[in-house]
Formats: sequence, structure tokens, C-alpha cells
Amino acid sequence: MQETRKDPPGREFLPRHVGIIMDGNGRWAKARSLPRELGHQAGSKVVGNIVRHCKKLGIPAITVYAFSTENWKRPQKEVNALLELLRRFLSNMEEYQRENARLRVLGDPSPLPPDLREAIVKAQEGSKDNTAITVNIALNYGGRAEILHSVKALARDCAAGALDPEAITEEDISRRLYTAGQSDPDLIIRPSGEQRLSNFLLWQSAYSELVFLNVLWPDFTPEHLNYALHQYALRDRRYGGV
Ligand code: IPE
Ligand code: IPE
Ligand code: MG
Repeated sequence: MQETRKDPPGREFLPRHVGIIMDGNGRWAKARSLPRELGHQAGSKVVGNIVRHCKKLGIPAITVYAFSTENWKRPQKEVNALLELLRRFLSNMEEYQRENARLRVLGDPSPLPPDLREAIVKAQEGSKDNTAITVNIALNYGGRAEILHSVKALARDCAAGALDPEAITEEDISRRLYTAGQSDPDLIIRPSGEQRLSNFLLWQSAYSELVFLNVLWPDFTPEHLNYALHQYALRDRRYGGV
């Protein structure tokens, strides 16, 4: 099936926030009899290109799922390779400044190696005033862990007497998520043929449109994104209404 389009849809049909579950690196490597790590390396090269394409189209925010709270289950060698690629990606400060991109990391940094935590702080701090596009990297991210993190913060506020449990609103939960202050993703794209969320943005995806593609992430091009954007443009978002 053809899953590419040369041209994007018109500006008025574009999402404001796109989420991407970057999946299929392992299968890409396997198909070439390469170690999985080389699949991740190939996949990491695609990210910048897709971010630049979003920026060029005028999409103000993108969230890419890079490492889940469940991905620690993988062999140590693979986990190390993934963390090293993320370290490199986050240290590429000239690139964000050149692109005027604001970098945010979603997830719990505490189990990460100290130099990676430092790279996160630097990347976020150094790019915080950039305005062309917000790039969220979901790193040691899990939707359930994020909701739990928010609920604990709420419980602390209640215990301290600062918040009445009966008065808690959805907005109170949203404000304590890693995505605080950002709009929910309008569109979530998952390449690789899998059709599940795998713990990605569970709270925020309540009304997201989902597009699943068969392409593996290292083969994902701006033309695949255009195709997903056309699918999105065709959707009728009703939010429970008529
Ligand atoms: C996605 O590719 C990258 C991460 C989950 C970190 P996979 O490594 O999951 O690739 P497949 O699913 O095994 O092909
Ligand atoms: C989801 O992919 C996580 C990332 C893309 C970072 P997985 O490959 O880990 O998900 P499952 O195991 O197929 O659900
Ligand atoms: Mg996978």
C-alpha cells in the first residue's frame, strides 16, 4: 500500500501537536542482518529531518517517544546504545539554536546516568526561549508513571491542606503532568505496523487521532509524514458530540 504523499495538506488542516512512536528499528536491523543497535543508530538520524519538516509546515509541537519505562527490560548492551544515542542527540545544542527549537524532555530522569541528566538540564535550559517549534523527547517515559507522578503531587497538596480532594479537577491533573502547559497531541503516528499506544501519552491521547503506518522508523520520510497528515485532515473530530 502506498503510504507516502508528495505534498502536505493545506495549513488549515494541520495538527498543532504531533506525537510519534518511533518503532521498528530492531526489525529494520534484523532485515539487514545487522545488530539492533545499528537500527537505533539509523532511526536516530531520521528525527532531525522529521522535526525540520514539521517546522517548515508550521506545526508548533512534536513529541517523539524515544525510550519507555518498559524499555529497561532490553539487554544491557541495547539499553546502553539507546542512552548513548540520546546523549548525543541532546548535546547537539547548535542544532536547536540554529532551528530555533525548544527542547523538552518528558519522563523521570532520576534513574538515568548523571551525564545524561546533565545533558537534559543543559538542553532544556539552553533552548527554553526558542520559539519556532517545541520538541518533546519522551525519555524514560510511561503514561501510567506520569499519571502516578501527578497523582502523588496532588496527594501531597491535599495532605498539606492546600487542596480539597472534592475540588480536584482534570486541569489539576493535567497541570502536574510532564506536558504541563502544552496542548494535547491532535495526531499520534505509529510506524512499524504495530497498532497500540505502548504507554505513550495515555492521559493526553483521550481524543487524539491515530494513524498507523507499515514503514519501519529508520525508513520514515517527510513523505510518510505528509501521508499521515492527509489521513488526519480527513478525520471528523467529534469529541463525543454530533
Ligand atoms: C523502537 O524500535 C525504538 C525503541 C523502542 C527504543 P524497536 O527497537 O522497538 O524496534 P522493533 O519493534 O524491535 O522492530
Ligand atoms: C514503544 O515501542 C516505545 C518506543 C518507541 C520508545 P516498543 O517497541 O517498546 O513497544 P512494544 O513493546 O512493541 O509495545
Ligand atoms: Mg518495538
